[in-house]
Amino acid sequence: MNNYKDDLAATVQELSHAYEELSLLYRVAGMFASLSIDDICSRMVDEAIDTLGVKTAAVLFLDDKTGVLYTKISRGSWDNTRTFSRDAEVIWKTIQTRKPLAFCRIAETPYRDYIPGVRSLMVCPIQGKVKTIGAIVVADKEGDQEFFSSDTKLLMAISSQAGLSVENAMLHAELEGLLLGAIRSLVKALEATSHWTAGHTERVTEYALAIGRLLNLQGDLLEKLKISSLLHDIGKIATPREILNKNCALSESELIEIKKHPGVGAEILGEMVQFNEVILCIKYHHEHWDGKNSLFGLKYEEIPLLARILSVADTFDALTSDRPYRPRRERQEAIQEIKRCSGSQFDPAVVAAFLAWVNSTTLQYQAP
Ligand SMILES: [Fe+2]
Repeated sequence: MNNYKDDLAATVQELSHAYEELSLLYRVAGMFASLSIDDICSRMVDEAIDTLGVKTAAVLFLDDKTGVLYTKISRGSWDNTRTFSRDAEVIWKTIQTRKPLAFCRIAETPYRDYIPGVRSLMVCPIQGKVKTIGAIVVADKEGDQEFFSSDTKLLMAISSQAGLSVENAMLHAELEGLLLGAIRSLVKALEATSHWTAGHTERVTEYALAIGRLLNLQGDLLEKLKISSLLHDIGKIATPREILNKNCALSESELIEIKKHPGVGAEILGEMVQFNEVILCIKYHHEHWDGKNSLFGLKYEEIPLLARILSVADTFDALTSDRPYRPRRERQEAIQEIKRCSGSQFDPAVVAAFLAWVNSTTLQYQAP
């Protein structure tokens, strides 16, 4: 009978450990999705501290060039300037074997000199699909308890999910860098066709991002606003040069020609399905809030928020820049014009954010 009871207790304990590990995996997988590298690391140490009840946790990254592990982020009593070269076996062993290591009394091991000021320690590799990211270190459990094999499993669960997410985020950042580089080259090629528009794109991007931040846009959405702003006039590639460079007011037919650029821009990018929000922002960046004079007949919230922001940023830069057919307006005069068009051409909420930004800043970019 006793044997039966013991078996049952052991099974219940195993099941509860398995449940804890699975629920942690589930929570962590959702938590890390689409976060930046810094945010993933930050959540990783927080989760390790909460789940394992440790006083200290640190994420170490492997520098591919120098082959040294450096502290990316830490909590508790960890020296952030600490780096580990390959002779710091305790950390490197876990990376080489891809297995976790735990020490209950590090002072009694040959590794004590590498990590001073810590009693007990557990290290776990952070592995992506293709590359080794680094390691996570936790130290000193509350109440001076030992590390158990269940703790090792929990730390492995955190690090395996985080490893894949960090690797994804790294690839994403790399691709984004390449993409932005290509976009900037494209924009330069466009601006080279008309000396009047030189610098326009970078300034509009700066203004749009400032407004976006004040409207609490973050992460992915802010990134889309940036790409949309950089590409907003890409459709002008199809506008005849003589129209873009004309020295006097445009005729009716030339205006019709130039008004095609939002639609053409959307068509050019149309193949890139993952750019859907960017495409819509570009297509609708000349729509008017009240719908009067909208190129595509949209009004109010039908116009995507990113396009409403871009519209204000674009107009402000256009007003404060010289054009072949009119001189630039003074900054205060341009601000008054944007205010005047709040509720008609522009979304009042976007204008409010624009005013908050423009009144609190001296512009970094000065119109030519
Ligand atoms: Fe435009």
